[in-house]
Amino acid sequence: MTSDLIAGEVRVEGRRVAYRANGDPAGRRGQRVLYVHGTGCSGVVWEGHLAAIADVHTAVAIDLPAHGRSEGPSFRGAADHAHVVAELASALGWERFVVAGHSMGGAVALSCALYHAERLDGLVLVDTGARLRVHPDILRGAREAAAAGRRPATPREWAFARATPQALVDAVAAMTADVDARVTYADWICDDSFDCLSRVGEIAHPTLAVCGEEDRLTPPAYHRFFQSRMPRCELAIVRGAGHWVFQEQPAAFTRVVRDFLDRLPAG
Ligand code: COA
Repeated sequence: MTSDLIAGEVRVEGRRVAYRANGDPAGRRGQRVLYVHGTGCSGVVWEGHLAAIADVHTAVAIDLPAHGRSEGPSFRGAADHAHVVAELASALGWERFVVAGHSMGGAVALSCALYHAERLDGLVLVDTGARLRVHPDILRGAREAAAAGRRPATPREWAFARATPQALVDAVAAMTADVDARVTYADWICDDSFDCLSRVGEIAHPTLAVCGEEDRLTPPAYHRFFQSRMPRCELAIVRGAGHWVFQEQPAAFTRVVRDFLDRLPAG
């Protein structure tokens, strides 16, 4: 783990839920932000970003159940994950917080907004969507990988911009290598079954939607949809990025997120 981050854990319904924090989470600098990773990942993917906002905002990144250092079970529904996110925030002493989610983590963040609305000061939706239907080839590949006990692979052209260096693609794959293929398959089902298209208009929290211009898994149109339906949603489309905007263009990503968080009322 990046040396300036702190590893922690709490227990939710008797099971370990792990997180990393960019300082003492009980203290407070700026906003309190809880980052949620996507399919087949863990909180490790947020480490660079957590460090980049450590001087101004208090942030933690969760390992969702069965991912990273958190114990199972692996859920197949975003609302179950949202419950654990809200419980982690409570265990940290955070009455209210901003939730930020990437891909499946965005579905979890939206579920927090629908089912734990009173706990949120804002939302950051990163390369995600209000409906996350998964291509049947991806689902089949994940199911076969889970049955065979090998790592599933999503073709790079689905997930990364054309100009993204292969070294970064490999680094992201390495960060996510320890997640059990059966858990990743459960995550894809969580994505595929998620649909709040008809309800996003109910979400009135200040929201930032950020998307890589070349994202083919959750394209810019999904994020324009947020902006068109959610009364307080800002949109940022980042050039030279695909589905991994915060890894592919970290400086641009941190700039728009910091700008959004800096403008939220003090919590
Ligand atoms: N936000 C806004 N609009 C959405 C949406 C979202 N999250 N998800 C779907 N829609 C819209 C589409 O834009 C489309 O509108 P249109 O008919 O005006 O063009 C309509 O709903 C139907 O969506 P579509 O995704 O084309 O549904 P489908 O059932 O025809 O196709 C797939 C399903 C899986 C084949 C298709 O979504 C796909 O190719 N996805 C690949 C990407 C993928 O697997 N992503 C993983 C997400 S984690």
